[in-house]
Amino acid sequence: MAALFAIAVVVIGLIWAYRFNSALKSTPEAARKIGHRYWATQELRDAYEHTKKNPVDFGKHLPPKLERRYVIVGGSGLVGGDIVLQLLQRGQSPQSIRILDFSPLNRQDMLEKASGCDFVKTNITSVESVEAAFSKPWPSSVAKSPITVFHTAALIRPQERSILLYDRVSGVNRDGAVNVLNAAKKHGADVLIATSSASVSIKPVNFFTWPWQSSPKNYFQICDEKDFFAPIRTHEEFFANYAHSKAEAERAVCAANAPSFRTGCIRPGNAIYGQKTDPVLGTLLNDGEYVSWLPQVIQNYVSSRNVSLAHLDLEAALLSTPINSPPPACSGRPFVVTDKGPPITFWDMAYAAIVLSEKPIKLTHTEPIFIHMVAHIMEFWSLLLARFPFLTTVLGWKETSHPIHILQPATLNVSIHSFVDDSAARKPVAEGGIGYEPCATTLEGFCTQILEFNQEFSGAAGAKNNGGSKIAKVAKEAKGVAA
Ligand SMILES: *[C@@H]1O[C@H](CO)[C@@H](O)[C@H](O)[C@H]1NC(C)=O
Ligand SMILES: *[C@@H]1O[C@H](CO)[C@@H](O)[C@H](O)[C@H]1NC(C)=O
Ligand SMILES: *[C@@H]1O[C@H](CO)[C@@H](O)[C@H](O)[C@H]1NC(C)=O
Repeated sequence: MAALFAIAVVVIGLIWAYRFNSALKSTPEAARKIGHRYWATQELRDAYEHTKKNPVDFGKHLPPKLERRYVIVGGSGLVGGDIVLQLLQRGQSPQSIRILDFSPLNRQDMLEKASGCDFVKTNITSVESVEAAFSKPWPSSVAKSPITVFHTAALIRPQERSILLYDRVSGVNRDGAVNVLNAAKKHGADVLIATSSASVSIKPVNFFTWPWQSSPKNYFQICDEKDFFAPIRTHEEFFANYAHSKAEAERAVCAANAPSFRTGCIRPGNAIYGQKTDPVLGTLLNDGEYVSWLPQVIQNYVSSRNVSLAHLDLEAALLSTPINSPPPACSGRPFVVTDKGPPITFWDMAYAAIVLSEKPIKLTHTEPIFIHMVAHIMEFWSLLLARFPFLTTVLGWKETSHPIHILQPATLNVSIHSFVDDSAARKPVAEGGIGYEPCATTLEGFCTQILEFNQEFSGAAGAKNNGGSKIAKVAKEAKGVAA
């Protein structure tokens, strides 16, 4: 009898696990409606060749140069760095640009083009450090111009959801933003634009699925700005601590909007790509490795250069009425922005890298249920150490490090089908938008990035002068296998 009962429990358990795994591998009806089509090998190769011959001209959409000074907080990073480069490209002088960052300039493109800009090492969690960076005198040629502040610095830790660990992100993301806001006001800036995140609007997913459910609840979501116009949600209603801290920062920045001090936020949607350090394509190319576990999940991506462009569009829009007169409708609110559609799947990104990267990409598959199990173990470990600090201080136990640390339940909350609706940002300024217009697609953006990566990769291989041909051979084999 007992044996029969045990067998029944095991069988039901296995059926549930199987159903759970299938639910994760599903594409809900609402997401399927967009009619996604996978990129074909030839299509990728053609787009790549086209991008090589006709590089994307990011300059042609930039709003015109303004007689202003610029403070870019987080200016060494992905979005901040692109803002600096686009400001220079549209003709702002290096003397009129000040970069505030904890890390020195390290991007190759910035070392080449932005070394004439002022750089102040800044710890944004420290009021004194921010104050010192803002009070440093400016060159006399620009000292009288009005000031725009772009605040792009943030700590991106999508993996934690426990309030116990909230201060790991809130110090930089919320308090840091408030410090910058206060200093900007005090030092007479009249425009402040902060980078937020489309994930602010993401609601947690209930991954527990009943046998009759084909997909988890909330497995498909649309990212827009509606949540901003309702009271801020409770901690549990954000996908992770990161999103909650970004929402708090966004509210603080938008609440400060006034006729003499215009503010607004840009929510990039969803993952931002564009540099070796980006968490999606860049990391994949750099690691040369991809573990595929949810190849079917559909999401929008956004090029960091489009995100940067949206910041400049918002600046122009905020200045569309004279300072001290009523601010335009686009002020004091966030706008979500993305690349020109359609959204793509996780697999499309991996496949683009496999087909186009000169560095071979190793591909492995795993079942999503396995990833979910690992994620819960990781979180258990991390919370155990947080609850009992002596385990770390006395026994020397450590948290796992990057990249495995990312693998926690909260991260799974964003591994869902999510479309970005940036129709508000695309409206003209007169209708309350910011006139944002992405002119090309994620396919061209990916090709641009892989092209830049390949140029650097073959440059490095050539410089070392060893095994360039061997690498190319391995790459060709990898491509052959994948095609
Ligand atoms: C940044 O400033 C804060 C507040 O003063 C301080 O606690 C922290 O240690 C500083 N961080 C670094 C890396 O210096
Ligand atoms: C998603 O996030 C919420 C809130 O942080 C959490 O309660 C929920 O358990 C998460 N889902 C998973 C699978 O971790
Ligand atoms: C947006 O990014 C894509 C991909 O990098 C690019 O082709 C397009 O020109 C960008 N849009 C604008 C308006 O610059």
